[in-house]
Amino acid sequence: MAQTPTPPTPDGIAGYSYGSAAVRRSPVSLAELGLLRQAAQFGAEEERWLRRAGEILVDEADALVDEWRGVIAAHPHLAAYSAGTDGQPNPAYGAASRPRFVQWVRDVCRRPYDQAWLDYQHEIGLRHTHAGKNRTDGVASAPHIPLRYVLAFAAVVMTTTRPYLARRGHSAGELEQMYDAWCKAVILHVTLWSEAYVALADW
Ligand code: HEM
Repeated sequence: MAQTPTPPTPDGIAGYSYGSAAVRRSPVSLAELGLLRQAAQFGAEEERWLRRAGEILVDEADALVDEWRGVIAAHPHLAAYSAGTDGQPNPAYGAASRPRFVQWVRDVCRRPYDQAWLDYQHEIGLRHTHAGKNRTDGVASAPHIPLRYVLAFAAVVMTTTRPYLARRGHSAGELEQMYDAWCKAVILHVTLWSEAYVALADW
């Protein structure tokens, strides 16, 4: 059943509640995040290269999201999660969630990975599951995206970004560092989102 969409936030992106009181607190602590970052070897150096990557990706975020959405649209078993409950395409849903996806690219590269960021990763995880999908945009669609597809799709989000990073004349070494940092950041994000899918003790 369609619900009432969440009103736009002051920055104009409907449903983008980053940093607001509406965002539930992540059950993951900053200390646990620190251990996770160590496990992914995502430290200050990687953060620095991610900022450099962001100098490129902030401008390319729209194109990247188009590319990723194109992959989803081309595969009926993935497109089903953006369709209406009748299986018909629902362009309004895609249009409503798109600016948040674009903003995500920018946030990955530019936001400090602090409590507000951690809380919003919990929120994004929930928005892919029974606990939160469809509610932000008030749409009637499949209620849950299987974790396996979110994890597998990270492969697309990582690898399709490399050509964009390669376009700006950086050395091969700089490209590798930016790309490694982007890949690690993506893995860190989907790892945090996976928490919404499993019992915390198992996560
Ligand atoms: C690494 C993989 C993925 C990334 C980086 C990603 C990223 C995102 C982001 C940033 C949002 C918006 C979050 C917000 O509300 O602020 C979102 C929402 C959404 N994503 Fe994903 N996603 C991934 C995998 C998938 C897959 C595999 C599907 C479908 C097959 C999918 C379908 C959706 C849908 C339908 C929404 C809207 C959810 C809602 O109702 O709020 N995503 N995704």
